[in-house]
Amino acid sequence: MSQFDKQDQLNNPVTETPDFTRMVEEGLNRRQFLGGAAIMGLGALASSYSPISEAMQSVSGKGLSPDIGFKAVPASTADTITVPEGYRWDTLISWGDPLFSGIENFKDGGLNSAAAQEKQFGDNNDGMSFFPLSDDRAILAINNEYTNYEYLFAHQGKQMTAEDVRKAQAAHGVSVFEIEKKNGSWQLVKDSRYNRRIHANTPMMITGPAAGHDLMKTEDDPSGTLALGTFNNCANGETPWGTYLTCEENFNGYFGSSSDVDLGADGKRYGVKSTDSGYQWHKFDERFDIAKHPQENHRFGWVVEIDPKNPNSTPKKRTALGRFKHENAALTINEGGHVVVYLGDDQRGEHLYKFVSRNRYNPDNQDANRDLLEEGTLYVARFSSASGKASGRGEWIELTHGKNGLTAANGFKDQAEVLVFARRAATQVGATTMDRPEWVAVHPSGKQVFCTLTNNKNRGKEGQPVGGPNPRAKNNYGQIIRWQPDNGDHTSMDFSWDLFVMAGNPDVHNDAYAGSSNINKDNMFNSPDGLGFDPEGRMWIQTDGKYSNKGDFEGMGNNQMLCADPASGEIRRFLTGPVACEITGLTFSSDYTTMFIGVQHPGEDLKPSHFPGGGNSTPRSSVIMIRKEDGGVIGS
Ligand code: FEO
Ligand code: CA
Ligand code: CA
Repeated sequence: MSQFDKQDQLNNPVTETPDFTRMVEEGLNRRQFLGGAAIMGLGALASSYSPISEAMQSVSGKGLSPDIGFKAVPASTADTITVPEGYRWDTLISWGDPLFSGIENFKDGGLNSAAAQEKQFGDNNDGMSFFPLSDDRAILAINNEYTNYEYLFAHQGKQMTAEDVRKAQAAHGVSVFEIEKKNGSWQLVKDSRYNRRIHANTPMMITGPAAGHDLMKTEDDPSGTLALGTFNNCANGETPWGTYLTCEENFNGYFGSSSDVDLGADGKRYGVKSTDSGYQWHKFDERFDIAKHPQENHRFGWVVEIDPKNPNSTPKKRTALGRFKHENAALTINEGGHVVVYLGDDQRGEHLYKFVSRNRYNPDNQDANRDLLEEGTLYVARFSSASGKASGRGEWIELTHGKNGLTAANGFKDQAEVLVFARRAATQVGATTMDRPEWVAVHPSGKQVFCTLTNNKNRGKEGQPVGGPNPRAKNNYGQIIRWQPDNGDHTSMDFSWDLFVMAGNPDVHNDAYAGSSNINKDNMFNSPDGLGFDPEGRMWIQTDGKYSNKGDFEGMGNNQMLCADPASGEIRRFLTGPVACEITGLTFSSDYTTMFIGVQHPGEDLKPSHFPGGGNSTPRSSVIMIRKEDGGVIGS
């Protein structure tokens, strides 16, 4: 994601602060954090947790203190995957592998055609879900977030043509395909009736309160209900009625213009401007030229629902869930049947949201559940804490037109405008600015929710005060927040929260930047991003961080995956990735003996990787499968 990180940096430039001032500004050191705030106590004594964490511990400890049975792996800078003793890994699929017969195989050096890419596995795989068909057959739906021009084209993006733009558009979106288990190992089923590529030109329905609104209309779609495509599909979610949720994140970077166009405050807030992120789509596909089609960008930044079992279905953009840079969609069915979806907006200083469905889930009739994401209420989080404490209370503030100042007088004509410009609405109601909310995951107890706050160089700058869940200025390591709704009710307006971990480097720092007490030299990492649970309550943490292995990041090596016990706070490194990759996306087979994870952009920016092919091959984003040699449950 580093290329979007750079883009974010351009949109929100940071004034550098000398290192010595940041500690003064934030007034929190490791000792105070462990003693005064005392929320991280990993020690033998439960009393080292604050009262809030004790309450949380009792919930997650209820029969769900998971067995973590593997031996940790050390940090690594090698151009390969390392897994614990007794485990093995294999590649399932890589960027460019054809999903159908008769389609050309992947060619090194950026030589495949656009037509081939439209039928091949997309690039930069991210979030994914496993939909079982039987014991040995399943469908995988996998996001293809973006693409690296340095590998997509022989000319590395320097001599773009219309054909090249079409190829780049085809490398994005979602890949859906069948897999089957043979001799204990899963493999692609070419030509399955379920195999499908969804990309930046696939027709989609716009649904929900913003469908058909003036803000959604374009010259090509005066109805404001039919969009073309999805792209920058970051992480995901899945529903109990068998659909896949794909989340549109940094959509802004695909829009640009040859003329100098200003889309005003809303354009600025969403980072839509004349300069794109380097994709150059607007030069060959005028839909992406904001001078010609200033509202096309309103049709992106949504959560899209896809039915993987119906290859002819039209994906639906669910506008009730708001428009922002969606990371993932963590869905839970609340007691009482409301569908609650937690949603992060991944940009420095943006917010954490939740959606509550108007109608209730019907476990006896899945067809009746198909439009539960169509109507409901969107909320945004506001946190409070006693001074210096990294724990406290929080509330959800409703983003409904006519309430909380979301009125015409304040620039919101109707509910569609609240949803299309959800960020502006969140600011209007006083939401807390966060350190880049990435994935949210609901603990299998259903009682606690966790969210990775990956990092935020801008913390401590104007509008992003240090404190509460964002306790460190110039936060280059990130933290994981957890919260617990009052009475275990996800529709409650109030919750308690604390920090499960603050990442850091105890070899380099002896203050808050050393991390919380469950961080040590053997498990340190930076920039937590992917997050998920297995049903036994093991929490899997994936990183998208700095892999320089130098300075503040010395000893952390390449990006990695860790496993945590939410009850004790223990964190153990499970896997390390190849050079210059991000580890992102995870799902399991139904019996939890195969874990599928994503290795995204190995060798980005021409860093020296040849993963997974070795030799002199082009590095390729890939989905890998991890199994225990004894066939046991992963992590146990
Ligand atoms: Fe696509 Fe925020 O990661
Ligand atoms: Ca991510
Ligand atoms: Ca990230």
